[in-house]
Amino acid sequence: MAANWKMNLSLDETGDLLERVRGAEVDFTKVDVLVAPPFTTLQLANRLLAGTDILLAGQNMHWEGKGAFTGEISPLMLKEAGCSHVILGHSERRTLFFETNEIINRKVNAAIEAGLIPILCIGETLKERDGKKTFDVIRSQLNESLKTSCQRRDLPESVVLAYEPVWSIGTGKTATPEQAQEVHLFVRRWLGENFDHDSGQGIRILYGGSVRPDNIKELMLQPDIDGALIGGASLRADSFLSIIRFYKG
Ligand code: PGA
Repeated sequence: MAANWKMNLSLDETGDLLERVRGAEVDFTKVDVLVAPPFTTLQLANRLLAGTDILLAGQNMHWEGKGAFTGEISPLMLKEAGCSHVILGHSERRTLFFETNEIINRKVNAAIEAGLIPILCIGETLKERDGKKTFDVIRSQLNESLKTSCQRRDLPESVVLAYEPVWSIGTGKTATPEQAQEVHLFVRRWLGENFDHDSGQGIRILYGGSVRPDNIKELMLQPDIDGALIGGASLRADSFLSIIRFYKG
């Protein structure tokens, strides 16, 4: 269960939220938990989460190691701040900040090289879904943002994919479990076709887009939905915790 805080939460709010999350009873044999705060609160989050099983991720990064890239942050900087993961290719990065699949491919490669685990986001717009282009869009996002990995036929099994239909992000419109499952299965098959090992089975595919306490259980019942990337509902301890504890009856 991965929390994407986006551009939210001050230092104080981060402290309050993480105190409550780390104090809660969570069965970490049943769920892996990760939070992705903004860059400015990563260090604080790292300190507060020390000694817990909760993982930390960046929301974005540059693909170069260092240099004249004003406003950017490198893979090693994220690692130094305590991150094990990094979210890449989120639809907000793609649409608002013009990130292309080619850029995302570079970032994925840089993350893997630096020992960070990418959480690669893909997803179609409403127009694409209505035009019956969902699978074409997903296929080309996968082909192009994992281009180098495809050429090498090598993708670490730790890599995480996140299917986030753009029309469901922050809109309250969740994909139905069946709609999500259909795409997840498509992604799983694509993995099986493009990589030699069993990555199709081993790689985790998260669903994201208006995940809430009242819809997480039915999403998690789907065979190819392995977890969730949660935006809005991860900003409050009560809703985030009840999503994390989806496994409770
Ligand atoms: P949301 O965001 O849960 O607020 O829809 C999900 C995301 O963008 O990762």
